[in-house]
Amino acid sequence: MTDRTATEPATAALRSLVGKLTLEQKVRLLTGADNWALHAEPAVGLRRIVLSDGPGGVRGESWDGRFTALNLPSATALAATWDPRIAYRYGAVIACEARRMGVDVVLGPTINLHRSPLGGRHFEAYSEDPLLTSRLAAAFVRGVQDGGVGATPKHYVANDAETDRFTVDNRIGARALRELYLAAFEDTVTGERPWMMMSAYNSVNGTTMSEHPLLAEPLCGEWGFDGVVVSDWWAVRSTEPAALARQDLVMPGPEGPWGGKLTAAVRDGRVPEEAVDEKVLRILRLAVRVGALEGFAPAVAAPPAGEDGPALAREVAAAGTVLVRNSGELPWSADGLRSVAVIGHLGFLPRTQGGGSATVEPARAVSPLEGLRAALPATRVDWHLGALAQRGIAPFAGSDLTDPVSGRPGVRLVCRGADGTVILDEHRRDANLARLGSARLAHTATVEVTARYLPARSGPVRIGVAGAGTLRLLVDGTELLREELVHTGEEFGGGLVSPPHASAPVELDAGRPVDIAVRLDLPPRRGPDSGVTLVAGLDLDTGAPDAEIAAAAAAARDADAALVVVGTGPEVESEGFDRTTLALPGRQDDLVRAVAAANPRTVVAVNAGAPVLLPWRDDVAAVLLTWFGGQEFGHALADVLLGTVEPGGRLPTTWPVDEADVPVLSTTPAAGRLPYDEGIRIGYRAWLESGTEPAYPFGHGLGYTTWAPPAAGIPGELAAGDDLLLTVALRNTGERRGKQVVQAYLSRPAGAVDRPVRWLAGHATVTAGPGQTATADLRIPARAFQHWDGAWRTEPGDFQVHLGFSSADLAVTGTVRIH
Ligand code: BGC
Repeated sequence: MTDRTATEPATAALRSLVGKLTLEQKVRLLTGADNWALHAEPAVGLRRIVLSDGPGGVRGESWDGRFTALNLPSATALAATWDPRIAYRYGAVIACEARRMGVDVVLGPTINLHRSPLGGRHFEAYSEDPLLTSRLAAAFVRGVQDGGVGATPKHYVANDAETDRFTVDNRIGARALRELYLAAFEDTVTGERPWMMMSAYNSVNGTTMSEHPLLAEPLCGEWGFDGVVVSDWWAVRSTEPAALARQDLVMPGPEGPWGGKLTAAVRDGRVPEEAVDEKVLRILRLAVRVGALEGFAPAVAAPPAGEDGPALAREVAAAGTVLVRNSGELPWSADGLRSVAVIGHLGFLPRTQGGGSATVEPARAVSPLEGLRAALPATRVDWHLGALAQRGIAPFAGSDLTDPVSGRPGVRLVCRGADGTVILDEHRRDANLARLGSARLAHTATVEVTARYLPARSGPVRIGVAGAGTLRLLVDGTELLREELVHTGEEFGGGLVSPPHASAPVELDAGRPVDIAVRLDLPPRRGPDSGVTLVAGLDLDTGAPDAEIAAAAAAARDADAALVVVGTGPEVESEGFDRTTLALPGRQDDLVRAVAAANPRTVVAVNAGAPVLLPWRDDVAAVLLTWFGGQEFGHALADVLLGTVEPGGRLPTTWPVDEADVPVLSTTPAAGRLPYDEGIRIGYRAWLESGTEPAYPFGHGLGYTTWAPPAAGIPGELAAGDDLLLTVALRNTGERRGKQVVQAYLSRPAGAVDRPVRWLAGHATVTAGPGQTATADLRIPARAFQHWDGAWRTEPGDFQVHLGFSSADLAVTGTVRIH
């Protein structure tokens, strides 16, 4: 690992560079040059610094899919590994991706907490628990920065939901703020020294975060953060208040509330020039770290060559898969399976990542169907829709298409101005043109896509297009569609989140190509970056949902075993909005019930980034929670189903039986305010208090072997301020090699301070062969014994230490007296 302090630049040398710049030159550096880059400043040898999302892959400087990127499993999948060593490797691979794409700073990890399961963006955050979040986030940041790339913990602080995110005022008590929401960031800042931090959109207790005193304290003072505070995109809305706060950089640019207005504010004495100088100094310090300032050595001279990204994606997806029910069905033995029915929209078109700014464009995404087929070459593996997870158009795979001009796999894209002149004429690798928005397309009036499509199967299908505008679709020269598609939903990143669509039936013959031509006359747009989307492909909606369920159940009855893949779509889990329900969309619950009734060997894989309700969970043979499994999802799922790999995950967040049981549910502000009235009790802390049983508790997850309760000597005494170090022995009592996550919780049965029933204080991961005992070193930090009361304090006396395998399965208890 690199020594991150040895190469820190001499601040005095940087100050002298700041002194060479005019006020205008300095202020210019404090707003982005465009969407993703900072301004260069040749006067001091500063090149542009490039930022890019994000938490589960690196998108690069374009939204529109021309550049493919590694799509790692969602942060919730990473969190479910409970393994900081894996989080470190995940960060290291992200750094390699960033360097490959010319990106200096990655906008992640997302450190906000799963306060309510309705939070729409939980897939890209880790957990409902601050300790687990902080350990994983810290390791991620170390992995990224050891690779010579900056990390950006975000969104500081309390962007725990998306409803009215620009304006919501989260009302949070001092203790909850310190013990939960700030605690999630603290060790990452103090221990890993991130080079950038992102301030959040929301307000906390009346002040928007880009102007908030919390940027100064505890972030910069107490925690010693010396990097750049970047705004969330468009979050800075003021000149003086934000410039007087410890907000350094306004993104995106080049327009914004600083620029000339800030220069004037300095000239008028409303903002001291020293404040500007300090911000510029921090940008130069960042520039040194990433190697963007001439004459200074970067923080990491020789970044390590990364490991194989797709292989890591596969490993993480399996290591984060949580087996929550198994009636002895899993693992499957390949020998005993003559046929498997893969059922569900997501079995064929899985969700490998959440929506919004965390999205990247993978070169491929392995479906459960493909994964199982590859793993079971001698078994008949068929797919049946059963039920839709989301309505819309499933894009044709690029490999089934040929660009008629270049002859390469993919499509020809032509954009024309209002007078018919060609603005753009280029090859695209597939028909998923979900984000065409960009300044160079500002004057596009018509988008045309042509391709030759080679069907793999014979029979009737519906070919369709999603987008907004006046649509014409021709197949082999025959007009199939001519209609107006009107968009009323969300736009994001130059695309439409849920574009309207239309489709028409055609009869295809396997192996006989058809020529597809699409023309979309665009409606007036809101601005040059406003959404242009054109997706051409198949509409899986046959309009006969009962018949689809019946057909899937019949297929399951005829197969040896069934795998049903259910989950959420981008209308449910994305950025900019929260969820309205935890129920699975569409008829997916009916589908699972029908398949389970038809075949007792029904296994369900839940492809959702955050909790959903599973009302049939006790009626199926096995349930795997797979999160958004990244581009290698199908292979990882097959690995777990066949027992090649242990389902290594444990829940980073509680899964409820019912919405009515969830202690903290609402994400909807009233009169602009969202009160965090539950104080220090969110997640399992609140569930334990309420006494209601969730479907699956925090920390829970089964494996394919069995374990004896953990054994550890718990010392009876500890000095206040010391960490408690435990050596825990874990014996694998089963017949297979396996992984276990031992968890330590603290409680305080008698004490003067109000506390949760118990709280996570430490965890460690072991693997052991059959009959073997493994030992884990488990560190409970001194902070776990402390509470916030204007300062961190330790209440002396007896704490109980509970050891076990989930927040609800704690077999071993000992008492430690704190002096
Ligand atoms: C998101 C950030 C993201 C930024 C840039 C914002 O909408 O909240 O997490 O980094 O966009 O894409």
